Amino acid sequence: MSEQFTQVALQAALDERPFRFFRRVSSTQNIAREWAMSNPDINGAVVITEEQTEGRGRQGRVWHSPPGSSVMCSVVLRPDVAAEALPRVTLAGGLAVVDAFPTDLQHDTALKWPNDVFIRGRKVSGVLAEAVWSGDQLQAVIMGIGINVRVDFSGTGLEGIAANLETEWGQPVDRAALLATTLDRVDYWVAQLDDPALMDSYRAKLGTLGKRVQVYVNISSDDNTETFRGRAEALDDDGALLVRLDSGELRRVVAADVGLAEE
Ligand code: BTN
Repeated sequence: MSEQFTQVALQAALDERPFRFFRRVSSTQNIAREWAMSNPDINGAVVITEEQTEGRGRQGRVWHSPPGSSVMCSVVLRPDVAAEALPRVTLAGGLAVVDAFPTDLQHDTALKWPNDVFIRGRKVSGVLAEAVWSGDQLQAVIMGIGINVRVDFSGTGLEGIAANLETEWGQPVDRAALLATTLDRVDYWVAQLDDPALMDSYRAKLGTLGKRVQVYVNISSDDNTETFRGRAEALDDDGALLVRLDSGELRRVVAADVGLAEE
């Protein structure tokens, strides 16, 4: 299947959910943010595209997929949470993506803190949650989701690191249905931000716990990164990762990149 999204197919899949579909945009994050700012009533509305010229991931990385090969969307959310609990919104996004994957793949699917979805050790999806503030008032969270469905990574630096849902599953994936289920699961988990079930479900899927990790913390707006190693010991209730350093110190990591390190 290499068909492109159409307005009609998306309308059928998304039913009552407000959406905007563009063949090509800078980033769905930008469009969703503008939509959220100009329309304070929308909640759960989604921007979808086939191509981004400035698609972005966490830590300033680029996110690029050719048309027809992935799900790329940004959802406008209005979560009622305190600032310190905002990381839980990101975690809700990762869980929603996992839930939307076929049942046969669930056993091979894991989350890498905070927001990457892996199948058999390779990344299939990433979630980017960006808060929109007006002074100290949270206006919205724009949750961007990218899912590789049939992206050709051969010959790129991502070969061996990234994977596709269709290849891993061995069956054609209906992207509009995958999108609709993912968004329904986003609604579900964002409504449970204060429920311990969210963190319990997230911990159960987290492949990082108990492992030795290398942590990369972006410490300023330039490219300065602090790195340290330790064992990922636990996840606290606000979604921060607790890493035990070799010195015995326990560090609370709120925003960082975490890779597995040698044992
Ligand atoms: C990550 O893995 O670091 C997060 C990737 C998020 C990518 C999606 S694609 C749709 C939305 N628009 C963007 O520019 N980024 C997100």
